[in-house]
Amino acid sequence: MDAAEALASLMSPQGRVDPYPAYERLRAFGPVVQTGPGLYAVTGYAEADELLRDSRLRMLDGELRDQILPQWRDSPALSSIARSMLRTNPPDHSRMRRLVAGAFTPRRITAMREVVATQAGELIATMAADGRGGSPVDFMAEFAYPLPVGVICALLGVPAADRPLFRRWAADLTGALEPEITPAELAVADAGATELRDYFTELVAARRRIPGDDLTSALVQAHDAEERLSAEELLANLVILLVAGFETTTNLLGNGLAVLLAHPRAADGLRRHPEQAPAYVDELLRYDSPVQLTTRTSGEAVRIGGVELPTGSWLLLLLGAANRDPRRYPEPDRFDPWRALPSPLSFGAGPHYCLGAGLARLEAQVALPMLLRRLPELAPAGAPRRRIRLTLRGYDNLPVTVGEPAPAADHDAPD
Ligand code: HEM
Repeated sequence: MDAAEALASLMSPQGRVDPYPAYERLRAFGPVVQTGPGLYAVTGYAEADELLRDSRLRMLDGELRDQILPQWRDSPALSSIARSMLRTNPPDHSRMRRLVAGAFTPRRITAMREVVATQAGELIATMAADGRGGSPVDFMAEFAYPLPVGVICALLGVPAADRPLFRRWAADLTGALEPEITPAELAVADAGATELRDYFTELVAARRRIPGDDLTSALVQAHDAEERLSAEELLANLVILLVAGFETTTNLLGNGLAVLLAHPRAADGLRRHPEQAPAYVDELLRYDSPVQLTTRTSGEAVRIGGVELPTGSWLLLLLGAANRDPRRYPEPDRFDPWRALPSPLSFGAGPHYCLGAGLARLEAQVALPMLLRRLPELAPAGAPRRRIRLTLRGYDNLPVTVGEPAPAADHDAPD
């Protein structure tokens, strides 16, 4: 098998459901490998980390974007992604990121712990009630989706009653983040993006009339009063913040719970020692990363991992593969929350490092031990269904039985 075939195996439906064997096929050619004309795949941790921080690498924009993605302007999904901070370069990127960053300072995130704990507790109680008598419940629908949606909606000032709207729209839109997309898939992504854009157009109008103490109102103000954000950028960033704020965290909770249920000894360790949640969550992020890849182009020629990348190369930075690089993590295919190794690349690195990393970590660090302590008999119930997606890796459905809840007195008691 050559490198192009190894990449094709990653893009196949089977590769999208379980990418890890294809990563090993690619890794056999070295940490950076050419997989087609002007196309390179990066599986090495050190190389991906270095490239993400290298200012010679850029998000696809300008003429190159028009060449590679000629349909982007007419596509609500592609243009929303392209115009948000997620896919822009300096100075636009730094300007937009600064406007939003104030909402994600460590102090602000720590202040959200109570909100997260309260919402998680309520969702667990509902899940326990729905699963009484042994009937299976879908962890994705009952917990992994509503918790992060509730948190990001609170930040953005989205009314609670509207939260159920977003699951389908966001799932559809994020198809546009796949490295390859068919016209039919793009039409689905565009429909989701249109719904989200219409929704936020109305929310912006409402917050313009009556501002609140929320991020939407702050960004509307940056547009109206200070002209630091164009109308198109305002909409694009609101859509991306909502979607980036929960699709990924939903998948961290779903992938994370599935791994814990498959490793009862480790799960027991977390149940007994909730203070170890930060180490567990980082290992879950490494072992089955909710974001498996990102892309860049080279604005100049770059030499990395013994390979020369000419100007205008298109790079697939395989974060999920980097997180299983044996040069970085011994026995990388083993889930081991006790490995004392530095953070995985799951939130990226460099100027686009995830703005919500602290919030996502907080949600998982609060929710996962709470689930294990309050529902000590939580168990898988039949085969879960993986979403056939490479970039955002997660489950469509994860059936569990909840068993007998622990007495309330035991919930937060030290072991
Ligand atoms: C960027 C992963 C949760 C907001 C990123 C990037 C990654 C990532 C890999 C960098 C993309 C690149 O370099 O191309 C994740 C994961 C999450 C998560 C794995 C959950 C487990 C969140 C949350 C929010 C958020 C909760 C918001 C509340 C953003 C934003 C960016 C970003 C705004 C763009 C930053 C920029 O371009 O400067 N995320 N994310 N993410 N993330 Fe997250």
